[in-house]
Amino acid sequence: MRKKIIAGNWKMNKTPSEAVALINELKPLVQNEDVDVVFCVPAISIVPAMEAAKGTNINIGAENMYFEESGAYTGEIAPNMLTDVGVKYVIIGHSERREYFAETDETVNKKVLKAFEHGITPIICCGETLEQREQGIAVDFIRQQIKIAFLNVTADQAKEAVIAYEPIWAIGTGKTATSDQAEEICAAIRECIKEVYDEATAEAIRIQYGGSMNAGNAAELLAKPDIDGGLVGGASLKPDFGKIVNYNK
Ligand code: G3H
Repeated sequence: MRKKIIAGNWKMNKTPSEAVALINELKPLVQNEDVDVVFCVPAISIVPAMEAAKGTNINIGAENMYFEESGAYTGEIAPNMLTDVGVKYVIIGHSERREYFAETDETVNKKVLKAFEHGITPIICCGETLEQREQGIAVDFIRQQIKIAFLNVTADQAKEAVIAYEPIWAIGTGKTATSDQAEEICAAIRECIKEVYDEATAEAIRIQYGGSMNAGNAAELLAKPDIDGGLVGGASLKPDFGKIVNYNK
C-alpha cells in the first residue's frame, strides 16, 4: 500500500517572512498521518521554512537543484547545500523549468541521478502539451520523458522516486484533467516503470497528479488507484491546501 504524498509547489511566490507566516498559518491544517506532506519553497526561504516547520509533519523541499557538486555555476544550488540544511525532496524538471530555463530530458536525468547520490528524493515532473494530447501522442511523449529521466537509475532508487504527472494545459489554468484522464496517464506511467524495471518497482513508486488540483477535486483524483498524491501550485498557498491534505477525512 503506497502512502499518499501531497506536495505544494510554491513556485516564485512568498518572501522569506511571508513564507514563515504561511507555514504558521497552514501548520495546524495539514496534519494527516495518512499523507506525506511536503512544501517546496523558493531556495531563499528553505532555511526559515525549516525553522518554522520544526516539530511538525511538514517536510520542506526545494523547487530545483543543479547536477554538479560545486563550482562556477552562478546562481545555482548544489545538492549538498540542500542536504546540509535537511532538505529531503526536490522537484526536478517542472514544465516551467523546461519551458523558461531550457531544461531537457537529459538535464533532468543528470539531476535525478545527482539527487539520489545525495539521498534526496526527486519529484520528477512529466506531462504533455494540449497539442500533443490532441494529436493522440501524450502517452508516447510521457513514456519517452520517463525513460530518459530514469536512465542509469537503479530499481532500488526508482522505488523511492516520486513522479508528478502534470498535463501542461492544466497548470495554473483552472482546467483540471478529469480523474479518468489523470488516471489513464498515471497508469501508463506505472506500466512504463514496470517495463523498464519490474512489477515490484512499479508497485512501489509514487505517482502524483498536478494541474489545478484544489479542495473541490482532490478527493476524486486521489481516489484513483494509480494516483498517489498531488503536486499543487496555486492552492498550496492558501488554507485550501489543508483540505487537499485532508482529502480523506
Ligand atoms: O507544480 C505544480 C503545478 O504546476 C500545478 O500548478 O496547481 O497552480 O495548476 P497549479
